Amino acid sequence: MTAQLNPRGDVAVLVPAAGAGVRLGPGGPKALRRLGGEPLLVHAVRRVAAAPSVHTIVVAAPPADTDAVRGLLAPIAAVTVVAGGATRQESVAAALVAVPAGPEIILVHDAARALTPAALVESVAAAVRAGADAVIPVLQVVDTVKEVSADGVVLGTVDRSALRAVQTPQGFRRAVLAAAHATAVDPLTDDAGLVEKQGVRVACVAGSEYARKITRPFDLALAEHLLIAAPAPEPP
Ligand code: C5P
Repeated sequence: MTAQLNPRGDVAVLVPAAGAGVRLGPGGPKALRRLGGEPLLVHAVRRVAAAPSVHTIVVAAPPADTDAVRGLLAPIAAVTVVAGGATRQESVAAALVAVPAGPEIILVHDAARALTPAALVESVAAAVRAGADAVIPVLQVVDTVKEVSADGVVLGTVDRSALRAVQTPQGFRRAVLAAAHATAVDPLTDDAGLVEKQGVRVACVAGSEYARKITRPFDLALAEHLLIAAPAPEPP
């Protein structure tokens, strides 16, 4: 059943899904790789669409697959599909310009975080609604982290207590994200990095183990198990 998004919602979610997925091994664009028999992108969009505040979803698809992605997502939720770019940042920028007037909170997600719960979408949006300009979900770093030279010699041990692993969706006041993308120069791996460069304060909320990024074959195997523990949400 196609999920109806909330016409009174104040949140647009951008889902960059145009990456090649080289680290996952051969097999086509990562967002279209299968998990539990369905593409990662379908899992991701289904969970985003189940978040009650979501007004609009814009997916940046691999340029050669935009029609296929439209067909794939039509039964899941009413989404806008645009062609992605050569970098994640370009894909996000392409999706951002497709957001209609209305939503003043923009979340930027990764299709590769396919099992992210709708509750995390809501908690990031709620933090922006409560007044933050930019919000990221984070997890504590559990491993000891060391700085290592190119030839494999330890240079030092980093204070782990101050480190966080950063997830998506990252949330922004619309004008803040638009300004950051308008002035972006070097491609960065996340959108909070862009707004940090603008001097904007970025707040943190608790992330989710289910929002871990699926990058390598091991991550996909792990996600198959997590899918059993976190079955798909019912459409709203
Ligand atoms: O490569 P990485 O795992 O960091 O990609 C994170 C997300 O950005 C993925 O969902 C991927 O599909 C997306 N991406 C994109 N356009 C690119 C590269 C990555 O939309 N050119």
